[in-house]
Amino acid sequence: MTLRSVVIGCGYYLPSRVVTNAELALRVDTSDEWIVQRTGIHERRVAADGELTSDLAIHAARAALAHAKVDASTIDLIVVATSTADQTFPATAVTVQAGLGITGGAAFDLQAVCSGFVYGLTTVDALLRAGTFKRALLIGAETFSRLLDWTDRTTCVLFGDGAGAVVVEAQELSGTREDRGVLTSHLRSDGRHRSKLYVDGGPSSTQTVGHLRMEGREVFKHAVANCTDVVEAAFAATGYSAKDVDWFVPHQANRRIIEGSAHKLGIDPAKVVITVDRHGNTSAASIPLALCDAVADRRIKRGDLVLLEAMGGGFTWGAVMLRW
Ligand code: ACO
Repeated sequence: MTLRSVVIGCGYYLPSRVVTNAELALRVDTSDEWIVQRTGIHERRVAADGELTSDLAIHAARAALAHAKVDASTIDLIVVATSTADQTFPATAVTVQAGLGITGGAAFDLQAVCSGFVYGLTTVDALLRAGTFKRALLIGAETFSRLLDWTDRTTCVLFGDGAGAVVVEAQELSGTREDRGVLTSHLRSDGRHRSKLYVDGGPSSTQTVGHLRMEGREVFKHAVANCTDVVEAAFAATGYSAKDVDWFVPHQANRRIIEGSAHKLGIDPAKVVITVDRHGNTSAASIPLALCDAVADRRIKRGDLVLLEAMGGGFTWGAVMLRW
């Protein structure tokens, strides 16, 4: 017998305001055709004035708790993966904790940009399997609209706001690869690439929040190779291969990156969950949003083998394989 970290529920929240490509074309020199052809994005959500990352996170967390049919008081760990915290400190996770009425256990933020959810799931898994905590809320929540330079057409068309959450609990299982729960995780980073995708501000450097800056081509060049690297590590660790994967749920940055990665890995396009068309790139929120989408419409079912993969600023990248 061994402890496994099993996802027992998921939930999401999207701000109500939809921003279409046509609306963006009124602000910057772009077009629906360019954005769709280059990225696959048709629309994204943008948080209302005064709607904070913690607000999105709390809505998503409540939905995940309801889906899991567990009470907030049973949660002893909250991890919020975000690059758009409400404040420099305290952690957004403690605002979420207070918002949910939880007074015990621990809460902290984790920052790995678009890889935040896979970094978060790997961290939560380690803490649950060590016996440090019993039941966790992992939330990817972002308000990237607040980091964008809305006059820069090369970046402002790509991102959106949203939050997705999962409830993960430690369960005693057989220890075989047929178990439910996280089966393997692989994380990487390479800080030599940190200036290819970054925010040009921060408390220690400029005492401002700053705006997102990106060398899009450079990011694109590395994305497929990095994805392949960690997914192949997950295959090697479990003995599973592309044909065994029921659902591939990658970070939703760009349809071309997603399809290129699936093709290179030999994953059937019909098994790839895509939400980037409706959500844009929501950074750490994109994987849980895509998971929720596929769970809600009953594509992902209990017992399915699910492969998560992400890459983001840093660069950071990683993959997690789990049985739903
Ligand atoms: N509308 C119209 N034209 C545009 C726009 C726009 N929104 N943005 C750029 N262009 C123009 C450029 O100015 C350039 O014009 P020029 O040839 O006159 O100089 C032309 O389009 C081509 O620009 P490129 O940057 O070479 O276009 P590319 O085909 O590389 O597509 C894109 C750009 C979509 C950003 C692509 O590089 C990409 O997807 N990169 C990955 C970036 C990404 O997904 N980042 C997300 C965060 S990282 C992650 O999550 C993995």
